[in-house]
Amino acid sequence: FVHQLADESVGMDQLLVSPLRLEPAPSLPLPLELYGPQRANSAGLDLTVDSMRAPLLAALGQASAPHVAENSAQDVAAAMTRSLAAYPAWRATPVATRAAVLRRAADMMEARMPALCALLVKEARKTWGDCVSEVREAVDFLRYYANEAERIMQPVAMPGPTGETNELRLTPRGPWVCISPWNFPLAIFTGQVAAALATGNTVLAKPAEQTPAIALEAVALLHEAGVPKDALQCLHGPGETVGAALVAHPRVAGVVFTGSTQVAKIIQRALADKDGPIVPLIAETGGINAMLVDSTALPEQVTDAVVQSAFRSAGQRCSALRLLCVHEGIADGVIEMIQGAARELVTGDPALLSTDVGPVIDDEAFDGLQQQLQRLHGEARALLPPSPVTPGSHLIAPQAFEMNSIADVRREIFGPVLHIVRWRGDPQAVIDEVNALGYGLTLGIQTRIDSRADALATQAHIGNVYVNRNMIGAVVGVQPFGGEGLSGTGPKAGGPHYLYRFCAEQTLTINT
Ligand code: SER
Repeated sequence: FVHQLADESVGMDQLLVSPLRLEPAPSLPLPLELYGPQRANSAGLDLTVDSMRAPLLAALGQASAPHVAENSAQDVAAAMTRSLAAYPAWRATPVATRAAVLRRAADMMEARMPALCALLVKEARKTWGDCVSEVREAVDFLRYYANEAERIMQPVAMPGPTGETNELRLTPRGPWVCISPWNFPLAIFTGQVAAALATGNTVLAKPAEQTPAIALEAVALLHEAGVPKDALQCLHGPGETVGAALVAHPRVAGVVFTGSTQVAKIIQRALADKDGPIVPLIAETGGINAMLVDSTALPEQVTDAVVQSAFRSAGQRCSALRLLCVHEGIADGVIEMIQGAARELVTGDPALLSTDVGPVIDDEAFDGLQQQLQRLHGEARALLPPSPVTPGSHLIAPQAFEMNSIADVRREIFGPVLHIVRWRGDPQAVIDEVNALGYGLTLGIQTRIDSRADALATQAHIGNVYVNRNMIGAVVGVQPFGGEGLSGTGPKAGGPHYLYRFCAEQTLTINT
């Protein structure tokens, strides 16, 4: 063991391997009204699949995802005219009133949890567990950004000479375009919209074309809670037409986008090429997310973290684990345990409570994944049985492939597909290779050498680093989420700096 550690460049001074932690480490108290990682919020509401089984299943019978008509470029122009007209009044609405509206929406969303979950199961084909987590996250975004807007939108007195007062204040920017993805069609949609509205901007939202119904439901709920109709409008259709028309409009004050790196760059270019002001873009994109496992890691903990991170939500999370880098000294055992645990997962109909891995979103995703899998079967060692192809089901059972090197993992595969690479020597060299991939969203580190975890995290150009746990499911107000490099621009969603980007700053100097 000591030889092995020496091989991994661990000095004798670092050989005080941390003991297993049986007690949770002390943590800061969470604002009570957020769900955060706990089961119940301050009102004692305990919303989990287990506690809500009957209402969830009953709601499924009622749920339907209606067909939603596509909007045109003319609709975009008309919506912008209405948005600009609504802006002065929403901007002038006191921040406390805007926050109260968002809190009312949060309460309503909480009360309608079963119906929203059922619609998510029907339209986005997510498992019940994922749907409950998603509604809780949307509720948390509403409450968190309401609190944050009230916190930051107070004028700050600046120091100055006698005879002069100086004040720094945040102001809204105008109509924001919010473009959201199908993989979190309620949580990310609501988060973007809530951030823009809380800070006094108006919103033109374009949800993913795969999941318009849940977005319409959220918009109706926000209107009912008190957001003026024209301050929040929803436009439907493909990114190439409706999204492009929105971004190209000369009066757009800002764009917030979650989706692929490629589309983020198209938006960035389109914004730069228009006449008029420099328009801010917040982009949250993908990642080739790695987990580094050294020889001191606990194989059971690693296995659980890998299976959760790579296969939960059918791998359709931007945070999901794509590349497991495991020390060769423990690799055989860890791979065997992952194979066993992955085979236990039930791949199937998301409407069944027993399903662990639901379908991928649509034909296009399924066909693309089949092509990637075919390529991987040709060039890597398959570690799990090939997924049976059932026409029309869009189901892909967890897949894992052993690769020769990190450089062989060239692109993000947005599905339940894990690459595994063995390493030996210096773990810092592994982090260098991961950095060289250019993405920077999530990283897992599994080690019981605390100083190593800290050093590797510091070395990594990566937004969210998780040590000795899974690397998905960032919690609003607890794990601010977002990456760097090819993974996005920041600021982090669900964090204390997010709302600043939605605001302009004004310094007011008065000669008294
Ligand atoms: N925020 C999600 C997660 O952390 C991904 O979008 O898994």
